[in-house]
Amino acid sequence: MSDPIDRLLDAAESGKLIIKNRESLHFSYKPEIILHRDSELEQVTQSLLPILKKSRPSNLLVYGKPGTGKTLVVRRVIDKIQARVEKSNFPIILVYSNSKEETTLYGLLVNLGIQLGLNDRELPSTGLAISEVFKRILNKIKKEKFNAIFVIDEIDYLAQLVVKTGKDILYQLTRANERLEDGGTLTLVGISNDLTFKEKLDPRVISSLGEEEVVFTNYDVGQIKKILEERINESFIENSVDEPAVNLIAALAGGEHGDARRAIDLLRVAGELAERHQSDTVTIEHVREATQKIEENKEEKSLKSFPLHEKLVLLAIMKANGSSTGEIYSSYKNLCKVIGKDGLTQRRITQMLSEIELSGIISGRLIHQGIHGRTKKFKLTISSEMIKKTFKEDLTLQDIV
Ligand SMILES: Nc1ncnc2c1ncn2[C@@H]1O[C@H](COP(=O)(O)OP(=O)(O)OP(=O)(O)O)[C@@H](O)[C@H]1O
Ligand SMILES: [Mg+2]
Repeated sequence: MSDPIDRLLDAAESGKLIIKNRESLHFSYKPEIILHRDSELEQVTQSLLPILKKSRPSNLLVYGKPGTGKTLVVRRVIDKIQARVEKSNFPIILVYSNSKEETTLYGLLVNLGIQLGLNDRELPSTGLAISEVFKRILNKIKKEKFNAIFVIDEIDYLAQLVVKTGKDILYQLTRANERLEDGGTLTLVGISNDLTFKEKLDPRVISSLGEEEVVFTNYDVGQIKKILEERINESFIENSVDEPAVNLIAALAGGEHGDARRAIDLLRVAGELAERHQSDTVTIEHVREATQKIEENKEEKSLKSFPLHEKLVLLAIMKANGSSTGEIYSSYKNLCKVIGKDGLTQRRITQMLSEIELSGIISGRLIHQGIHGRTKKFKLTISSEMIKKTFKEDLTLQDIV
């Protein structure tokens, strides 16, 4: 039997690779051609246009379901404006930041400030009050007479950070302009895929952030297919993705709400699997295998992110002699004893079961027991192999999995 490493290297060398440009399948890739989004591209451009006429654009709220091209479209408009600004001497500055990538409100503001040209002495990465960081950002805009556009992507996460820190920063950001007077302007562009986001905001924030709104509609299956075909041209060698495979990806990603990100993820994983199997083409089977793999990765990631006692509860469900809350609790207590940790109260565990249920990893069912009242029974919705495999990597749990 040949050496597995050599076998793979041979295959790579003998040219059995069907992906010619891997980068264009990466999530951060910005395709040259943006299909089906002319109206959204126009609306976003229209809204920001005043900046080129040296006046302040209205704040803008962009929203739509995940994978509908919001980040792509807004970044494209910003890049194009930026390219023109570089040729003029009017001080326009465009900054982009993704709230999901920051863990604190402080971090997000510092990130924006650094992009405005503040250095780490003027804006140290810790130690100032939030209001002070904000003041320094505004002072910079005033001093340089900047016409600034802050794009805050996944702004719903910022709203969450704000709730945690209890600062009124979103409100202040949307109204910053009033504090600038003649010294520059600040426009806020917020992007969100949480359609209920608006309902959660303070009405004062909505009215100023949503001065203008662009809503991204869902792609239909046909549109997703066109996007896929375009991407296949860029990234695969000719005729290496079967038509039925493209149709299946489009149907899977387009079926629910037209998520282009899911479509491209599926395409990438299916392509990699096809190469691994040394196939000349991507087939429906590769797509099926890809959906399964993506699903498993998601489960694994969500399992890994659980804190210790949640993990113990999942193991307890796996090992319990029955599925009622009481049975799960006694199995949990046992596991705690084995690894030498104090167990939490039954009340807390009951509550935890409901929380885990929300993540979809377990499902619960109320059972009526006549005069004995009712009890809730739980079972895992994922395989116990997946739990074993994932928790084996956790040093504390290794011995009890
Ligand atoms: N019209 C399109 N043409 C080509 N590629 C697209 C198009 N729309 C989206 N994509 C691709 O799909 C992926 C997701 O798009 P994007 O990141 O813009 O979605 P989004 O609306 O910002 O989603 P989220 O709300 O989850 O952040 C990206 O890889 C992007 O390149
Ligand atoms: Mg996005």
